[in-house]
Amino acid sequence: MKSTLPLLSLSLLLLTAAVTAQMPGFVSLDCGGTGNFTDELGLKWTPDDQLKYGQSTHISVANETRKQYQTLRSFPADNRKYCYTLKVMSRTRYLIRATFLYGNFDKSNVYPKFDISLGATHWATIVISDANTIEVQELIFLALDPTVSVCLSNAPTGQPFISTLELRQFNGSVYMTQYENQYYLSLSARINFGADSEAPVRYPDDPFDRIWESDSLKKANYLVDVAAGTEKVSTQMPIDIGNSERPPQKVMQTAVVGRSGSLTYRLNLDGFPGSGWAFTYFAEIEDLGPTDRRKFRLVLPDMPDVSKPVVNIEENAHGKYRLYEPGYVNISLPFVLSFRFGKTSDSSMGPLLNAMEINKYLKKTDGSADVSIVSSVIALYPSADWAQEGGDPCLPVPWSWLQCSSDPQPKIIKIKLSAKNLTGGIPLDLTRFTGLAELWLDGNSLTGSIPDFSGCTDLKIIHLENNQLTGELPSSLVKLPNLRELYVQNNKLSGKVPSDLLNKNIVLNYTGNIDLHKGAGRGGHDKIIIGSSIGAAVLLIATIASCLLMYKGKKYNKQDQFERTGPAPSLGSSLGGVAKEAAHCFTLSEIEDATKKFQRKVGSGGFGAVYHGTLKDGREIAVKVLNSNSYQGKREFTNEVTLLSRIHHRNLVQFLGYCQEEGKSMLVYEFMHNGTLKEHLHGRQSINWIKRLEIAEDAAKGIEYLHTGCTPSIIHRDLKTTNILLDKNMRAKVSDFGLSKFAVEGASHVSSIVRGTVGYLDPEYYICQQLTEKSDVYSFGVILLELISGHDAISNESFGSDCRNIVQWAKLHIESGDIAGIIDTSLDGECDLQSMWKIAEKALLCVQPHGNARPSMPEVLKDIQDAISMEKEADKLRRGNSDEISRNSGQSLSLNMELGESQHYVAMDESIAQPTAR
Ligand SMILES: *[C@@H]1O[C@H](CO)[C@@H](O)[C@H](O)[C@H]1NC(C)=O
Ligand SMILES: *[C@@H]1O[C@H](CO)[C@@H](O)[C@H](O)[C@H]1NC(C)=O
Repeated sequence: MKSTLPLLSLSLLLLTAAVTAQMPGFVSLDCGGTGNFTDELGLKWTPDDQLKYGQSTHISVANETRKQYQTLRSFPADNRKYCYTLKVMSRTRYLIRATFLYGNFDKSNVYPKFDISLGATHWATIVISDANTIEVQELIFLALDPTVSVCLSNAPTGQPFISTLELRQFNGSVYMTQYENQYYLSLSARINFGADSEAPVRYPDDPFDRIWESDSLKKANYLVDVAAGTEKVSTQMPIDIGNSERPPQKVMQTAVVGRSGSLTYRLNLDGFPGSGWAFTYFAEIEDLGPTDRRKFRLVLPDMPDVSKPVVNIEENAHGKYRLYEPGYVNISLPFVLSFRFGKTSDSSMGPLLNAMEINKYLKKTDGSADVSIVSSVIALYPSADWAQEGGDPCLPVPWSWLQCSSDPQPKIIKIKLSAKNLTGGIPLDLTRFTGLAELWLDGNSLTGSIPDFSGCTDLKIIHLENNQLTGELPSSLVKLPNLRELYVQNNKLSGKVPSDLLNKNIVLNYTGNIDLHKGAGRGGHDKIIIGSSIGAAVLLIATIASCLLMYKGKKYNKQDQFERTGPAPSLGSSLGGVAKEAAHCFTLSEIEDATKKFQRKVGSGGFGAVYHGTLKDGREIAVKVLNSNSYQGKREFTNEVTLLSRIHHRNLVQFLGYCQEEGKSMLVYEFMHNGTLKEHLHGRQSINWIKRLEIAEDAAKGIEYLHTGCTPSIIHRDLKTTNILLDKNMRAKVSDFGLSKFAVEGASHVSSIVRGTVGYLDPEYYICQQLTEKSDVYSFGVILLELISGHDAISNESFGSDCRNIVQWAKLHIESGDIAGIIDTSLDGECDLQSMWKIAEKALLCVQPHGNARPSMPEVLKDIQDAISMEKEADKLRRGNSDEISRNSGQSLSLNMELGESQHYVAMDESIAQPTAR
């Protein structure tokens, strides 16, 4: 502590001197810092304390006394991006540099890994591999807008953080290239040869504060294979560098000379192989004798063309102590660059090299499609936090209140600004998002009338409730072809509800608008759901209608979902009291007869072995023999099975009864003929994409029921592909629900024991032992990834050498846009990429590290159903376009399902669902 005091006062002294020295166009942000200061170099640092996000932390790293490295700012490891937005001058070139000194700031010694992006472009992945080494990323860009954003996001390990962010403005065009509108120049190497120390040369020697690394710096794989006879030379003479953006004089005053005729070096070029910008800098700084001649060539093995030109520094530069800088504006270079400068046969002196600079071309990503519209929306709310997230609205990850399509130039498809204190009218710009499917503006103080959204033809869901909107419900809403839900309740709307809107096949809520009245339409009072039977797309509509029926059922008529087998089960009430509807009790001899003394074992799981059986009435059953004997209290057991017997849903394997005799506890279920989903994904015959989606839908419905249809809700805890069973018709049902009580390892502490299967286990649950429905959502996300890829959740081979887990592997691919890389090859490309994307993105959300970032099962279910509609549409097109394809997919459909198509769709319709085995 004491030793830093002199340093501090030194920088205070320098403060006044440096104020005038600083170049214009310099920004030096001390991330996590608290006050302005000027460093020993004369650079003026400012804290990033205007940033609303992240946390500043002090660190202390041995031998690092610079004030800007005593602090950093870290951000949560969530699915958001955190951005710095800097003002720049348009059509001006800048150098931007971000540095990262980890210093074990989180006291976890988990080396972070995360991405940084410049605007929409992925700039680099920062991989910390040493707590005390500064990672540096630097690039040169031509500013095209008045601001530039640097964003941190996507940390698979540790938390994103940043130590400094520096912006340096060039005033010339040394770095101009014909590619600069489409490419950035990302620094790979900038080397000062013959340097007199390990310290880099930078500001104020370099007026643009480029960092010229010393060639004597010892770094792994950096400047090795140095030829024998390599000598340092230097001069005090001034060097004519011509243009201030060339390497500074101090760099040019030192060099290396190959006394034995060669200079050789090998170095690793970060970011390569690729195309790059590479320049070498020479100045003759040795006194040559009258007959001495220095001529040499660059020799790059494999690149004979590069090796032709002969360098004669004095001649090329028109004199001694003058700069000559040959280079390539676009050259293709490998990651490991070995180069040699060799003297020509008529040269008496060996080659000389002062400096070199290599940048990689980094392709800019097109920003999202709706940037200008969304900019004008957020400009209306200059002081709102959500309007200052910075960076591209969609890339690399969307703002927290947006969802975007997965197009190369993403469109905004969902805007969620619920309860954000919005006042004034609904911004008209909102009507210009052509891809918008969901708009949530509920719970604000919006006034004025509802604008014309007819340009947003994809709009499906509109939430405007709980505002102060006035005027009529515009008839333009009727024209929205995809509208499914419209909520305008609790506003001050007036007039009549357009009758066409009442007759439309949508969910509509307009209560709480005193002056708004129903027109002459049909339908219910405040919430109208009208079945539909029009048009040719009957199948599609049937799907939608069944979703709507379900929706209605869930919210307003819960009983409807229980297959009308009895009252809604209320586990809470039956727990303590006497069970009214006891589970059926089988005798052991009945079970033994049915299973022919446990002859055919069909499976085994965490709870015990499972045997096939046939009851006297012909019903096939599966008998699960619990392997835990500690479940002794007969009364308790009976209570538990009574609970089980009350859970009925067509997508849950039906519980038929139990048997507890001679110390054996058994559970009896309906038999599922087609086994587990796992067998179908990884063994037997492959199932096609639409079938996989339907299985996902079935399973999601079963889980949704456990979560939302039971009181108290039931958390499955062990969802996996072996717990999703398929019946005769390949309809999926979830099994092993409600069994956690039977997994006894210490009867009373059951709920605190982490249960689940490796690969499916919610990391948050595992760490915090806090069980919520979102733990099931995580496991379900893993199942979705398995459905997409056909791979197991955990594998030693499938995911490359350093990854065993499907989540990490899929995340990498999906987030880099490479969905093709994870699609099950046995699908033979027979799937619509849009529906695939929809599921892939949802799956990624499901496996978010934090439960509260994951969607709920109803949300997941909705996306699966959307994906099914998409896939069916796409399938229709595929059929229309090619008989070949239609024949093939028809074939696989019937092979896999032993079902005709029409039957298949009939089975889709919830309204004629039958209880399974009664
Ligand atoms: C550089 O040259 C390569 C090969 O000719 C070309 O493909 C590329 O587009 C050029 N430009 C950049 C910036 O890579
Ligand atoms: C909205 O305003 C109220 C009162 O000014 C404030 O308490 C609340 O935090 C604000 N909410 C948001 C989301 O900004």
